[in-house]
Amino acid sequence: MIIVCEKGVVISMDFTKVVLSRRAIRNYKTDPVPEEILQRLYEAMNAAPSGNNHQPYRFIFVRKDDIRKELALRACHQDFLLNAPILVAACCEKDRAFDTAIAMEHLILSATNEGLGSCLIGWFEREIVREILNIPHNHEIPILASIGYAAESPEAKPRKPLNELISYDRF
Ligand SMILES: Cc1cc2nc3c(=O)[nH]c(=O)nc-3n(C[C@H](O)[C@H](O)[C@H](O)COP(=O)(O)O)c2cc1C
Repeated sequence: MIIVCEKGVVISMDFTKVVLSRRAIRNYKTDPVPEEILQRLYEAMNAAPSGNNHQPYRFIFVRKDDIRKELALRACHQDFLLNAPILVAACCEKDRAFDTAIAMEHLILSATNEGLGSCLIGWFEREIVREILNIPHNHEIPILASIGYAAESPEAKPRKPLNELISYDRF
Protein backbone atom coordinates (compact mmCIF):
# COMPACT_ATOMS: atom_id res chain seq x y z
CA MET A 1 0.00 0.00 0.00
CA ILE A 2 1.35 3.43 -0.94
CA ILE A 3 -0.70 6.49 0.02
CA VAL A 4 -0.08 9.48 -2.25
CA CYS A 5 -1.31 12.99 -1.42
CA GLU A 6 -2.62 15.54 -3.93
CA LYS A 7 0.72 16.92 -5.13
CA GLY A 8 1.98 13.42 -5.87
CA VAL A 9 4.18 13.36 -2.77
CA VAL A 10 4.47 10.00 -1.06
CA ILE A 11 3.26 10.38 2.53
CA SER A 12 3.09 6.82 3.73
CA MET A 13 4.22 3.44 2.41
CA ASP A 14 3.80 -0.15 3.34
CA PHE A 15 6.48 -1.09 5.91
CA THR A 16 8.13 -3.70 3.67
CA LYS A 17 8.30 -1.16 0.85
CA VAL A 18 9.93 1.34 3.20
CA VAL A 19 12.58 -1.16 4.28
CA LEU A 20 13.30 -2.41 0.76
CA SER A 21 13.27 0.97 -0.99
CA ARG A 22 15.69 2.76 1.36
CA ARG A 23 19.05 3.58 -0.23
CA ALA A 24 22.10 5.59 0.79
CA ILE A 25 21.48 8.88 -1.05
CA ARG A 26 24.51 10.99 -1.97
CA ASN A 27 22.89 13.57 -4.23
CA TYR A 28 20.20 15.91 -2.89
CA LYS A 29 17.84 18.60 -4.09
CA THR A 30 18.24 21.77 -2.06
CA ASP A 31 14.46 21.92 -1.24
CA PRO A 32 13.86 22.33 2.48
CA VAL A 33 12.08 19.60 4.46
CA PRO A 34 8.69 20.88 5.72
CA GLU A 35 8.38 21.37 9.46
CA GLU A 36 5.44 18.96 9.84
CA ILE A 37 7.51 16.19 8.27
CA LEU A 38 10.40 16.94 10.61
CA GLN A 39 8.01 16.67 13.57
CA ARG A 40 7.03 13.16 12.43
CA LEU A 41 10.71 12.21 12.12
CA TYR A 42 11.33 13.44 15.69
CA GLU A 43 8.34 11.43 16.99
CA ALA A 44 9.62 8.30 15.23
CA MET A 45 13.03 8.75 16.87
CA ASN A 46 11.44 9.32 20.24
CA ALA A 47 9.50 6.05 19.87
CA ALA A 48 12.74 4.03 19.61
CA PRO A 49 13.47 1.57 22.41
CA SER A 50 16.56 2.07 24.61
CA GLY A 51 18.06 0.19 27.54
CA ASN A 52 15.96 0.90 30.66
CA ASN A 53 14.13 3.48 28.54
CA HIS A 54 16.98 5.80 29.45
CA GLN A 55 17.22 7.48 26.01
CA PRO A 56 20.91 8.29 26.53
CA TYR A 57 21.22 10.46 23.44
CA ARG A 58 20.59 13.78 21.76
CA PHE A 59 20.24 14.44 18.05
CA ILE A 60 21.39 17.78 16.66
CA PHE A 61 19.56 18.75 13.45
CA VAL A 62 21.83 21.16 11.62
CA ARG A 63 20.08 23.36 9.05
CA LYS A 64 22.17 26.57 9.08
CA ASP A 65 24.23 26.81 5.90
CA ASP A 66 27.48 27.87 7.54
CA ILE A 67 27.43 25.07 10.13
CA ARG A 68 26.45 22.45 7.54
CA LYS A 69 29.35 23.58 5.39
CA GLU A 70 31.80 23.29 8.28
CA LEU A 71 30.51 19.79 9.06
CA ALA A 72 30.73 18.70 5.43
CA LEU A 73 34.38 19.79 5.33
CA ARG A 74 35.04 17.73 8.45
CA ALA A 75 33.33 14.67 7.00
CA CYS A 76 36.52 13.96 5.07
CA HIS A 77 35.41 16.18 2.16
CA GLN A 78 32.39 14.08 1.24
CA ASP A 79 31.16 17.00 -0.86
CA PHE A 80 27.67 15.59 -1.40
CA LEU A 81 26.93 16.64 2.18
CA LEU A 82 27.05 20.30 1.09
CA ASN A 83 23.77 19.89 -0.80
CA ALA A 84 21.78 18.05 1.85
CA PRO A 85 19.44 20.53 3.59
CA ILE A 86 19.79 18.74 6.94
CA LEU A 87 22.70 17.07 8.67
CA VAL A 88 21.99 15.18 11.86
CA ALA A 89 24.67 14.56 14.49
CA ALA A 90 23.89 11.72 16.88
CA CYS A 91 25.41 12.25 20.34
CA CYS A 92 25.20 9.75 23.17
CA GLU A 93 26.52 8.86 26.57
CA LYS A 94 29.62 6.64 26.58
CA ASP A 95 29.08 3.07 25.30
CA ARG A 96 25.45 3.78 24.33
CA ALA A 97 25.97 3.71 20.58
CA PHE A 98 23.69 0.68 20.23
CA ASP A 99 20.68 2.57 21.64
CA THR A 100 21.56 5.47 19.36
CA ALA A 101 21.75 3.26 16.28
CA ILE A 102 18.17 2.10 16.87
CA ALA A 103 16.88 5.69 17.09
CA MET A 104 18.86 6.57 13.96
CA GLU A 105 17.29 3.67 12.09
CA HIS A 106 13.86 4.95 13.18
CA LEU A 107 14.89 8.29 11.68
CA ILE A 108 16.17 6.78 8.44
CA LEU A 109 13.12 4.55 7.87
CA SER A 110 10.72 7.31 8.84
CA ALA A 111 12.49 9.63 6.38
CA THR A 112 12.12 6.99 3.65
CA ASN A 113 8.42 6.72 4.50
CA GLU A 114 8.10 10.49 4.00
CA GLY A 115 9.72 10.30 0.56
CA LEU A 116 13.08 11.63 1.82
CA GLY A 117 16.56 10.33 1.09
CA SER A 118 19.28 9.87 3.69
CA CYS A 119 22.82 8.63 4.19
CA LEU A 120 24.53 7.57 7.39
CA ILE A 121 28.02 9.05 7.73
CA GLY A 122 30.57 7.30 9.89
CA TRP A 123 33.64 8.81 8.25
CA PHE A 124 34.25 12.19 9.91
CA GLU A 125 36.63 13.96 12.29
CA ARG A 126 34.85 13.45 15.60
CA GLU A 127 36.80 15.86 17.79
CA ILE A 128 36.44 18.73 15.33
CA VAL A 129 32.71 18.03 14.89
CA ARG A 130 32.48 18.06 18.71
CA GLU A 131 33.96 21.57 18.75
CA ILE A 132 31.79 22.87 15.91
CA LEU A 133 28.57 21.68 17.61
CA ASN A 134 29.57 22.27 21.26
CA ILE A 135 29.10 18.62 22.14
CA PRO A 136 30.21 17.97 25.74
CA HIS A 137 33.11 15.61 26.39
CA ASN A 138 30.91 13.12 28.27
CA HIS A 139 29.16 12.39 24.96
CA GLU A 140 30.35 10.34 21.98
CA ILE A 141 29.40 11.10 18.37
CA PRO A 142 28.84 7.68 16.84
CA ILE A 143 27.33 8.81 13.54
CA LEU A 144 26.09 11.66 11.37
CA ALA A 145 23.35 11.47 8.75
CA SER A 146 22.30 13.59 5.80
CA ILE A 147 18.58 14.04 5.09
CA GLY A 148 16.83 15.67 2.13
CA TYR A 149 14.92 15.06 -1.07
CA ALA A 150 16.87 12.70 -3.30
CA ALA A 151 18.21 13.90 -6.65
CA GLU A 152 19.17 10.35 -7.63
CA SER A 153 17.59 6.88 -7.52
CA PRO A 154 20.39 4.38 -6.98
CA GLU A 155 19.85 0.68 -7.58
CA ALA A 156 19.77 -1.60 -4.57
CA LYS A 157 23.25 -2.71 -3.52
CA PRO A 158 23.78 -6.47 -3.46
CA ARG A 159 23.57 -8.22 -0.10
CA LYS A 160 24.95 -11.52 1.18
CA PRO A 161 22.93 -14.64 0.57
CA LEU A 162 20.78 -15.32 3.63
CA ASN A 163 22.67 -18.51 4.47
CA GLU A 164 25.77 -16.36 5.20
CA LEU A 165 23.73 -14.11 7.47
CA ILE A 166 21.46 -16.39 9.45
CA SER A 167 22.23 -19.62 11.23
CA TYR A 168 20.12 -21.74 13.52
CA ASP A 169 20.91 -22.91 17.05
CA ARG A 170 24.73 -22.54 16.70
CA PHE A 171 27.02 -20.01 14.94
C1 LIG B 1 27.68 2.86 10.14
C2 LIG B 1 27.62 3.39 8.72
C3 LIG B 1 28.55 4.34 8.31
C4 LIG B 1 28.49 4.84 6.99
N1 LIG B 1 29.36 5.83 6.62
C5 LIG B 1 29.29 6.35 5.38
C6 LIG B 1 30.12 7.45 4.99
O1 LIG B 1 30.92 7.99 5.78
N2 LIG B 1 29.99 7.93 3.73
C7 LIG B 1 29.08 7.41 2.83
O2 LIG B 1 29.01 7.91 1.71
N3 LIG B 1 28.27 6.37 3.17
C8 LIG B 1 28.34 5.85 4.42
N4 LIG B 1 27.48 4.82 4.79
C9 LIG B 1 26.50 4.29 3.82
C10 LIG B 1 26.90 2.90 3.34
O3 LIG B 1 28.03 3.01 2.48
C11 LIG B 1 25.71 2.26 2.60
O4 LIG B 1 24.63 2.15 3.52
C12 LIG B 1 26.05 0.87 2.05
O5 LIG B 1 26.98 0.98 1.00
C13 LIG B 1 24.84 0.11 1.53
O6 LIG B 1 24.16 0.86 0.55
P1 LIG B 1 22.60 1.20 0.74
O7 LIG B 1 22.49 1.98 2.04
O8 LIG B 1 22.20 2.02 -0.45
O9 LIG B 1 21.87 -0.10 0.83
C14 LIG B 1 27.52 4.32 6.09
C15 LIG B 1 26.59 3.39 6.53
C16 LIG B 1 26.62 2.92 7.82
C17 LIG B 1 25.57 1.93 8.28
